[in-house]
Amino acid sequence: MGDTDSTSGAPPRRPAADRLPGSWGARPTGVPATVPPPYLPLGFLAAAAVGLVACGVAVALVRTSATTDPTADPVVAAVHLGVLATLATGILGALHQFTPVITGRPLRSVRRGVATLVTWVLASWLLVAGVAGGYPAIAALSGVLALLAIVLVVTNLAGPLRVAGKGAPVLGLRLSLVGAVLTSLLGMTFVLDRRESWFGLSGHADVAMGVVGLVAWLGVTYMGVAQKLWPMFLLAHVPTRRPVGTYAVSLSFAGSTTLAVGLGWGISAAGVLGAATLAAGVAAHVGSLLIHVRHRRRGVDVYLVVTLTSAGWLVPAAGLGLASELVVGSHHHVGVALAAGALAAVGGWLLEALVGHAHKVVPFIVWSMLRAWGVAQGPAGRPLMFSDLYNATAFVASYVTTTLGIAGLCAGLASAVPALVATGGVLLALSGLVTAANLAIVPWRLAHTVATRATGPAVPPSPGHDLVASR
Ligand code: HEM
Repeated sequence: MGDTDSTSGAPPRRPAADRLPGSWGARPTGVPATVPPPYLPLGFLAAAAVGLVACGVAVALVRTSATTDPTADPVVAAVHLGVLATLATGILGALHQFTPVITGRPLRSVRRGVATLVTWVLASWLLVAGVAGGYPAIAALSGVLALLAIVLVVTNLAGPLRVAGKGAPVLGLRLSLVGAVLTSLLGMTFVLDRRESWFGLSGHADVAMGVVGLVAWLGVTYMGVAQKLWPMFLLAHVPTRRPVGTYAVSLSFAGSTTLAVGLGWGISAAGVLGAATLAAGVAAHVGSLLIHVRHRRRGVDVYLVVTLTSAGWLVPAAGLGLASELVVGSHHHVGVALAAGALAAVGGWLLEALVGHAHKVVPFIVWSMLRAWGVAQGPAGRPLMFSDLYNATAFVASYVTTTLGIAGLCAGLASAVPALVATGGVLLALSGLVTAANLAIVPWRLAHTVATRATGPAVPPSPGHDLVASR
């Protein structure tokens, strides 16, 4: 990247012919042509951090009803601060960043991506306001906005995802779009039902929505994208190509949608078949992670610990889900509490993965952004590194608060102990604050202190950057 402008420190502007529509025209040299501008994925991730803090606070506030009646409106609102304002928002950010990277094709439109961000964040928060405040019209509007946001996502990503021969990651991303459509249609039906009272929604229907949203959409996205991220971040070269990643995304999608049908319509054969298929898909996902861990060339670090802990939440999720199904007929209240704990554990799997990967992905994106602004050196005057862009101790703090927060929430819901639920909520809010501060404040201060003296020599692109960009 020996192309820094000697007067401003900023890399030269790219020729117009090199600027693909739907991509970042001002990217520095060395960054692939298809990536979107940094503000798009970073906007989603910042909104997700705000969602996590709000979710933690809301969970602490509804601790008693969460243990006595998990389907009460204030609890539904807190749940959606977690699943929509945090997890889905973060995963949508990942979809907009990684679809172009994985497929080698840009988004159809960056503006459409921004419209998705605004529409989705509005939908998430309006649902919370409509449900918590008892305004069915506002909840209905949120359903329309959520569906609109997903239509925008599909039309933006469908083109790049037509690419052939990219294996499990692209299959996962395609299935995830189907999962997103199904989830938003279910959400639309649920919010309209609140207004029109077409049918009484059972607890099983609520769990069905949780399974489709958390697994068929968000989980399958993570499973697919992980097939690209694990080799990069673990420096793992798996010698023989195995279809285990393909099994993970396809079986998990098929299993979760079949399970949801079984739960929603009370068809026990579909429930059992779906659960067994889903278990096989999850086993393939965990197996693939273990294969990557075995072939990694990087030692034990926080990223590895976070990624393994994330997968570990699938064990209590399965155990609590099974226990719930076994006891709900005879001890309804206990069964409902165990189901709530199981869903919290599934959410924990995704949240832990989101927090861990944010500490890898955000520095990559911010590095490119700072380079485009002409920041060439880190605080010590050496070439700017990814590790300059966050504090490693704060990453550990994020890991600890996230893990203990999920543990408190899971245990508190499953055993119906409000104090544990509240502790989990407070820790999750803390985790959102620490993560956001670590990933935003450190680069922000660096940009300010270094930009003024950043006319130093050009920095070669880091090998890690090439990896995230092109593999
Ligand atoms: C990733 C996406 C989603 C997930 C994981 C999810 C999950 C859940 C869960 C677990 C419940 C039960 C909550 C409880 O009983 O405390 C629920 C209920 C509900 N969800 Fe969602 N949801 C998602 C998306 C949406 C969307 C997009 C909407 C509409 C905008 C929506 C509207 C509702 C409503 C209205 C209820 C309450 C239904 C009732 O009256 O029982 N959800 N959802």
